[in-house]
Amino acid sequence: MAHVLAVSGSPMEISRSAVLLRHVTDIVTSRGHTVDTLRVRDLPAEALLHADFADPAIRDSLARLERADAVVVATPVYKAAFSGLLKSWLDLAPQFGLRGKSVLPLATGGSVAHALALDYALRPVLTSMEARHVVNGFLVLDRFIESPAPVEPSPLEAPVNIHADAAPALTKVVEGFLESLDMGAARVVA
Ligand SMILES: Cc1cc2nc3c(=O)[nH]c(=O)nc-3n(C[C@H](O)[C@H](O)[C@H](O)COP(=O)(O)O)c2cc1C
Repeated sequence: MAHVLAVSGSPMEISRSAVLLRHVTDIVTSRGHTVDTLRVRDLPAEALLHADFADPAIRDSLARLERADAVVVATPVYKAAFSGLLKSWLDLAPQFGLRGKSVLPLATGGSVAHALALDYALRPVLTSMEARHVVNGFLVLDRFIESPAPVEPSPLEAPVNIHADAAPALTKVVEGFLESLDMGAARVVA
């Protein structure tokens, strides 16, 4: 079984991409894998903006990345790309910080016009960090995610509801990621 780091890249407290991430990690855990969820917005902003590699919270987040066999990254589309918050954290990770890991990129966005943001903006970054396999990602339009109600202690606890128009394609993408986890496990055993 794999250990997966789920990275939420939205700066928003109430976040649709975090809801999407939760939906996907629920599936991943139901298949017997373990999941550790990191909200980048919870890291100290000054350390992120000043590239403070020595900050204890930043170091801890990167240790959690190192421990993971695989990563799910969820981001909002911002300016036809992914969030600057997520980039600020990825910039602090080692050059080859995804070496040997499977990665599933996910996004939510307001428009299909930027459906390729995952492939044109995020995928090259993940690939440059030597991910073993960046599987097919998926962008869910924000109107296909039920508005997450403010809940305590975090929106990751919100009930998840993905619209039926988006769910089948999302499920297919998640299955592809789960297959890559199984292939990784088989490789370790062999
Ligand atoms: C600053 C900002 C820039 C955005 N830029 C885009 C964009 O270029 N293309 C797009 O489709 N949606 C854009 N959106 C809409 C968000 O991607 C969308 O609402 C997303 O679901 C927000 O995710 P979150 O709730 O996890 O933060 C933008 C939203 C904000 C706040």
